[in-house]
Amino acid sequence: MTLKEFHAEIKDCQKCSLGRSRTNLVFGAGNEKADILFVGEAPGYYEDQRGEPFVGAAGKLLTELLTKIGLKRSDVYIANILKCRPPENRDPSREEVEACTPHLLKQIEIIKPKVVCTLGNSATQTILDKRVPITKVKAKATQVKDFLVFPLYHPAAALHQGWMRGPLEEDFQKLKEFLASEVKPKPLLKEAEQLDLF
Ligand code: URA
Repeated sequence: MTLKEFHAEIKDCQKCSLGRSRTNLVFGAGNEKADILFVGEAPGYYEDQRGEPFVGAAGKLLTELLTKIGLKRSDVYIANILKCRPPENRDPSREEVEACTPHLLKQIEIIKPKVVCTLGNSATQTILDKRVPITKVKAKATQVKDFLVFPLYHPAAALHQGWMRGPLEEDFQKLKEFLASEVKPKPLLKEAEQLDLF
């Protein structure tokens, strides 16, 4: 199946109540053969209006961060955990995440990226399927199923909390080094180690 075919399959999705309030379903955008797939939390106002991910202020910062490591948006694929905007940009509910995550997993299956970069706590915890704080796992690669996850702070968080900008830029440099290296990924954290993380 291609992304286009999958998009056609889910474009009228009503698996959760956001199907009724959205303007546009934000499927994702970028290179179908990308090695890197970025995953945010959910579309905001501008994304909902345009039907494209990361087109507002956080998207502008994401584009800048990519440029600094020699990548264009068209080199990567960008999507979100939720395809539809939660009203007033509230946090996604558990039901919405459960309804929508299979869509993202299908996109990962089609694209087969080498690395899935989760942006922020929500995307990271959903993809790792663990309530692990992003500060503990950021900029470290972890094998999940048949892909690697490389968590990063969310660009929107760095816009609101200026101190995060430096660490986020450094972590993008680490991503660049990771992509260029033969470094073996760390195995998925063991159950006992995860308990220490809280
Ligand atoms: N924040 C996200 O998580 N996703 C977007 O598409 C835009 C902002």
